[in-house]
Amino acid sequence: MHRCLPLLIFTGITLGGIAAAATVAQTIALPPGPGRDQLMAACTRCHGVDVIATQRRTPEEWQEVMSVMIGHGAQMTDEEYQAITAYLSTALAPAVPPTGN
Ligand code: HEC
Repeated sequence: MHRCLPLLIFTGITLGGIAAAATVAQTIALPPGPGRDQLMAACTRCHGVDVIATQRRTPEEWQEVMSVMIGHGAQMTDEEYQAITAYLSTALAPAVPPTGN
């Protein structure tokens, strides 16, 4: 199901469903913290922030996600990589309560 999400978003935009797609993306917010701005810049090109904000992972698992995303074509500097990985590891750790939806 996750694999279909970016396609669904792109299809929605193409078909003029941009309002619906935008609403979904905006109702789910990432907690504030250092690295959040870098994440917003580097990680929202292909899918909404909701794909990320609803996840809870350990630092090791987030590093794995980062590798997979770079494999998909995500681009960022080394500094941004460090900042984003650190942000994910604290702001979206398993102990953080789920982001509502
Ligand atoms: C070049 C496109 C692209 C960029 C940029 C990108 N992603 Fe993704 N992302 C994908 C695709 C495609 C999927 C769905 C396939 C998959 O899960 O690997 C996805 C899925 C995900 C998932 C869900 C994985 C799961 O197992 O449910 C997370 C979390 C995620 N991305 C985080 C990130 C983060 C963090 C960044 C910024 C570093 C990022 N993405 C940037 C393409 C991208």
